[in-house]
Amino acid sequence: MLTKFNHVAIVVSDLKEASNKYKNVLGANVSKPFDYPEHGVSVVFVELSNTKIELMYPFGKESPIKKFLENNPNGAIHHICLEVKDLISTCKKLKKKNIRIIGDGEPKIGAHNKPVIFLHPKDFFGTLIELEQE
Ligand code: CO
Repeated sequence: MLTKFNHVAIVVSDLKEASNKYKNVLGANVSKPFDYPEHGVSVVFVELSNTKIELMYPFGKESPIKKFLENNPNGAIHHICLEVKDLISTCKKLKKKNIRIIGDGEPKIGAHNKPVIFLHPKDFFGTLIELEQE
């Protein structure tokens, strides 16, 4: 099922400060901030040659990461994203193995315009896993 590591997403308390820190302290290549109103997040991409880090901050009142930031006011790792070859068949296999998929259980178009699902962290040792169609 799994093919590649895609990204790790970190919720931060201040997007500009976090972006500057990765750039100025670690010498990282950082993108400008992007707003995704439909996903309720603003994101800065820290680009690395083999992967990327997504720095996320809540966008709007209904943001799905608002509560996470309230519970982790200093910021924290939110999820990791792994790629799979065939997300539809992966979904079916996971359901058979009683792995809970967050939401209605069907793939949704994620922030990178590819279908994604999120697996319940209680079914994966406390880590929220995003699976993305490669
Ligand atoms: Co993600």
